[in-house]
Amino acid sequence: MKMINLSTLLSFWLVLLLVAFLPVRSLSPSLNDDVLGLIVFKADIQDPSQKLSSWNEDDDTPCNWIGVKCNPRSNRVTELNLEGFSLSGRIGRGLLQLKFLRKLSLARNNLSGSISPNLAKLESLRIIDLSENSLSGFIPDDFFKQCGSLRSISLARNRFSGKIPGSLGSCATLAAVNLSWNQFSGTLPGGVWGLSGLRSLDLSANLLEGEIPAGIEGLNNLRSIDLSKNRFTGHVPDGIGSCLLLRSIDLSMNLLSGSVPHTIRNLSLCSYLNLSMNSFVGEVPGWIGELKSLEALDFSVNNFSGQVPESITNLKLLKVLNFSANGITGSLPASMGRNVNLLVLDFSQNSMTGDLPGWIFKSGVSQVSLSEYKLGAKLSNIISALPGASLQKIQVLDLSHNSFSGEITNGIGALSSLQFLNLSRNSLIGPVPGTVGELKALEVLDLSHNLLNGSIPVEVGGASSLKELRLNANFLGGKIPTSIGTAFSLTTLIISQNNLSGPIPAEIGKLNNLENVDLSFNKLAGTLPKQLANLPHLLSFNISHNNLQGELPAGGFFNTISPTSVSGNPSLCGAAVNKSCPAVLPKPIVLNPNSSSDSISGELPTTVGHKRIILSISALIAIGAAAVIVVGVISITVLNLRVRSSTSRSAVALPLSGGDEYSRSPTTDANSGKLVMFSGEPDFSTGAHALFTKDCELGRGGFGAVYRTVLQGGRSVAIKKLTVSSLVKSQDEFEREVKKLGKIRHPNLVALEGYYWTPSLQLLIYESVSGGSLYKHLHEGSGGNHLSWNDRFNIVLGTAKSLAHLHQTNIIHYNIKSSNVLIDGSGEPKLGDFGLARLLPMLDRYVLSSKIQSALGYMAPEFACRTVKINEKCDVYGFGVLVLEVVTGKRPVEYMEDDVVVLCDMVRGALEEGRVEECVDQRLQGKFPAEEAIPMMKLGLICTSQVPSNRPEMGEVVNILELIRCPSEGQEDMG
Ligand SMILES: *[C@@H]1O[C@H](CO)[C@@H](O)[C@H](O)[C@H]1NC(C)=O
Ligand SMILES: *[C@@H]1O[C@H](CO)[C@@H](O)[C@H](O)[C@H]1NC(C)=O
Ligand SMILES: *[C@@H]1O[C@H](CO)[C@@H](O)[C@H](O)[C@H]1NC(C)=O
Repeated sequence: MKMINLSTLLSFWLVLLLVAFLPVRSLSPSLNDDVLGLIVFKADIQDPSQKLSSWNEDDDTPCNWIGVKCNPRSNRVTELNLEGFSLSGRIGRGLLQLKFLRKLSLARNNLSGSISPNLAKLESLRIIDLSENSLSGFIPDDFFKQCGSLRSISLARNRFSGKIPGSLGSCATLAAVNLSWNQFSGTLPGGVWGLSGLRSLDLSANLLEGEIPAGIEGLNNLRSIDLSKNRFTGHVPDGIGSCLLLRSIDLSMNLLSGSVPHTIRNLSLCSYLNLSMNSFVGEVPGWIGELKSLEALDFSVNNFSGQVPESITNLKLLKVLNFSANGITGSLPASMGRNVNLLVLDFSQNSMTGDLPGWIFKSGVSQVSLSEYKLGAKLSNIISALPGASLQKIQVLDLSHNSFSGEITNGIGALSSLQFLNLSRNSLIGPVPGTVGELKALEVLDLSHNLLNGSIPVEVGGASSLKELRLNANFLGGKIPTSIGTAFSLTTLIISQNNLSGPIPAEIGKLNNLENVDLSFNKLAGTLPKQLANLPHLLSFNISHNNLQGELPAGGFFNTISPTSVSGNPSLCGAAVNKSCPAVLPKPIVLNPNSSSDSISGELPTTVGHKRIILSISALIAIGAAAVIVVGVISITVLNLRVRSSTSRSAVALPLSGGDEYSRSPTTDANSGKLVMFSGEPDFSTGAHALFTKDCELGRGGFGAVYRTVLQGGRSVAIKKLTVSSLVKSQDEFEREVKKLGKIRHPNLVALEGYYWTPSLQLLIYESVSGGSLYKHLHEGSGGNHLSWNDRFNIVLGTAKSLAHLHQTNIIHYNIKSSNVLIDGSGEPKLGDFGLARLLPMLDRYVLSSKIQSALGYMAPEFACRTVKINEKCDVYGFGVLVLEVVTGKRPVEYMEDDVVVLCDMVRGALEEGRVEECVDQRLQGKFPAEEAIPMMKLGLICTSQVPSNRPEMGEVVNILELIRCPSEGQEDMG
């Protein structure tokens, strides 16, 4: 008999506050609408930072609560300001109780769901700011109908969609509307132009389309309009020139065409005009010089033609001038030297000609882009002619794609503020000056596609901010300086197509930020430094067409390097070049009875008796080059393993030593390895023969590949080769941890039976489980043959028990996912891969999240948060996801055509809408007991709570599951 009504218990967890106090409150005689409203609001949201802890429903007035302001006379709430409180959840109906609220700001939180259709109808509300949340859904068309006295509304940076409500135009009190960074679509309702009080309109970064409607002159108070980043087409309406107070116009990144309306010349207050990235045509109007207030003018990426009008000289306040990527001809007016405030000048990608204007460097401009300008001159002359003072202001200099000749002089070192220097695709000669190392602010240096010679200067290591170094397609020779290892900000190193020789310095392995490296088409020789495998962020590493030799580094990025990145190096070996490395000769194994008691602590039964135990393996493990093993062309051959005599139930240690079969003493040869079977079973002795090839590979995980092999006795085992070997602890620690894991036995855990250790190769030997992984059963099974409800319940329960057992022994799994749950012949689940994170030297969050918990969708949110301690509750999260996966038959994250569906969110949404039953796997429809399935999904959701402490312990989970199982139906076959 069940003593607890379970579904009540579960929903109690879900809607704790609301259920708990509401009835009490409504009986209270001193009912205060504001207190009630705010407490109901609080009950609907999550407050992980406990910002609302001062909100206590026993207070008579909310006026002292944080974020709340009252009118001192009436004591009614007039302002609610919860900006940046890290709140999540939904905005419930509570706020509608606050009848005297004037200002509502919930900006910069993580609120989700839709907004109440009645929010704008609160009569006293003046300001609504819900910007920077995750709100979604449509805004009802009559949202602004009786909008009271609303003056300002911001819904910016949310996920609202649908049309901009037609009623917007009828809310005559509005002065500011900000709907930017949403997914609003359709056309802009013409009624908006009737809002004569409107000062600011920001509709940028939506999906709006169609023409900008006529009638904009109605907005005669408009100061600022931003329609950028939409899909507006057609011409800009002439009426815009009648909005005489306009100061800021941004129409960039649309599909607008036609010429710039001449009416704009009347906008003498306009300081910001951005028409970039449209299809505007025609000459740059001469009247532009009448816009005396202009500070920023951006006409870039259009089809403007003609010359730069002289009148531009009249724009004395101009700071930013961008005409790049048009069809502008002629040269820059010399009189522009009088635009003394100019900071940013970009005329790149036009059809301009002429010399580099001398005034540019005298006027104090800090960012100059004149790429593809058809400039030609001796760069050295220009640099040496520059006055020192102005040089120190330049931050960005892009003179690429011109015809500059001559050398880059040491004078470049005087550009002390330089962050970005692009001189690529010119005809520069001579060496790269060592003074580039003095440019401490330099982030990007691109000298590619020139005629530079000499070698890469040693001083380059001093450029401590350098992120991108591009010297490709020159004639640089000599070695890559080892000092490159001190340019620790480097993310991109492109030095291909030169004459570089010598080895690749191991110091490159220290550049932890490296993402893209291209060393191809040089004459680099020698072997690749092993350290390269440690680079954590590599995305590409091209060493093709050099003279490199030996084996590719093992591990990390190099396990998946593409063949084209390594081709053209005749002496390179490894899987990526499809050429095996010469194998090290196999060495025999000799069991040294004395070493067995040394190497295995007293925790395990050790060899007893006076008989000498000598095992020999005459051919063992063609470890050869580690590279061969890494890529799966492993051929470990264990032959001739003979036991002269052996005591059963003993631990057997097999130090692999050099020398012959009967070698008397173990050596400390680098190739010596150690094989330990915890059971010391004799059947391993009769000559185990295992050939590990790709055919035997069972799968790969965060820790390495798994192979199946059969021992001589006919028993099969699974062998996992750890690929994180560079991260593995020292031998002592490794053995201590592995032995600890070997002692963990549970019917629902895959047993660890032994291990093999060398400094470069570690194998774990596991019990073999026959039935395939849960992932395969759920997502790859054929249509007719799927898991029944009963099977699934057993799997969930068994997995829960195994986790509870692990947690009892203080082991965190860290890697729960359906591909780690194996199903044995009788349908019992067995959880594998447990505890492996303990083999890493540091339990680092980054390593854990990237290498181990990489399975999408199972990773607990606290991995992303440095301040939250990771504990066993991260397993509970992964288990919760697994439960939902088992019940719904869906992957934790599914990619649809243009949508990503996160399983927990989907089930949670369905639960709130009362249609959770529809989430159960289609294949089970009509064949499952709802009274088990629904509580199980709720349990899954509780386990996936964002806050770790809200998740139950695994022990509790097992108890709950046992309560959920209906005793009668449990026996029936539901499948
Ligand atoms: C929103 O949530 C994400 C993760 O869920 C977190 O990283 C972020 O800090 C939160 N933002 C705010 C404003 O609380
Ligand atoms: C609109 O809101 C966004 C996000 O809060 C903000 O960055 C932007 O400046 C706002 N627009 C205006 C015109 O104030
Ligand atoms: C500019 O404004 C004046 C009045 O201030 C008006 O007469 C003229 O037509 C306007 N010009 C344009 C091009 O709109």
